[in-house]
Amino acid sequence: MAETNGARSQVANGSTLEVRDLRVAVGDAEILRGVDLVVRQGEVHALMGPNGSGKSTLAGVVMGRPGYRVTGGDVLYQGESILALTPDNRARRGLFLAFQYPVEVPGVSVVNFLRSAYNAVKNPDGDESKSISALGFRKLLKEKMGLVGVDDDMVRRYVNQGFSGGEKKRMETLQLAVLEPEIAILDETDSGLDIDALKAVAGGINQLRGPDLGLLLITHYQRILEYVTPDHVHVLIGGRIVRSGGPELARELEAKGYEGLRAELGIAEDTDDATSAPMERATTDRGG
Ligand SMILES: Nc1ncnc2c1ncn2[C@@H]1O[C@H](COP(=O)(O)OP(=O)(O)O)[C@@H](O)[C@H]1O
Ligand SMILES: [Mg+2]
Repeated sequence: MAETNGARSQVANGSTLEVRDLRVAVGDAEILRGVDLVVRQGEVHALMGPNGSGKSTLAGVVMGRPGYRVTGGDVLYQGESILALTPDNRARRGLFLAFQYPVEVPGVSVVNFLRSAYNAVKNPDGDESKSISALGFRKLLKEKMGLVGVDDDMVRRYVNQGFSGGEKKRMETLQLAVLEPEIAILDETDSGLDIDALKAVAGGINQLRGPDLGLLLITHYQRILEYVTPDHVHVLIGGRIVRSGGPELARELEAKGYEGLRAELGIAEDTDDATSAPMERATTDRGG
């Protein structure tokens, strides 16, 4: 976005999200066992892993969702620890998380929801003079809708109510476009999508991709990465990143599966990972 470049360029070298030797427990179970990951503005990282490996836990801890206990390590944004910040303060600093299971918000239209979210992030003090007008927001929204391919009918409806899996994910992409975060985490944005919806969501992500946006794309399956080519790929198994590489790593995984990689690296089958499904399930997984 041209009009935001001025504000962004104040950040020398762009913003960086840094996960450092992060250890996280849920209840008594240690879920993340020392995760290191650096995502810079402008980079697209894919985080892949079997079900239960801790991908959503990582996203949740970075964004400050309750229910997790950080037992070691840190999460830094622009060089400062953010673990003590509330989720909305993290959002105001420029972080964004699209949830794996988007919630329905009956009685609130998409337009109003997005305008509230926009004001909460861009104008946290509620200063009337800085608040965007309804007309101004309409204009901004129109432009973003064109960018990610969302039509008028959808933004007039209540948030996620009666939305198909594909519409929910497209709605998230629109939210991402409107909020213009510096670093965004998309957790299983591809889950439950048929091929047309997947292409539409990937197309939206590709439109938003650029030097101002750092992306962490969390996905079980390789297929979205055929449309959004990541700069870096990381594989999380049993709460640890067991391998990092370029886009070819995703293809390698598609070929050998997580089991193959596990065998190659000599990682024992986790008892807490019984739900781990083979990659081939991708085409039949229509859960959303
Ligand atoms: N709130 C929770 N309560 C209990 N167990 C949880 C909770 N969140 C995650 N877990 C457990 O942590 C592990 C990792 O879960 P998750 O981060 O959702 O994995 P992924 O997103 O990779 O599928 C799983 O074994 C899951 O059952
Ligand atoms: Mg998950």
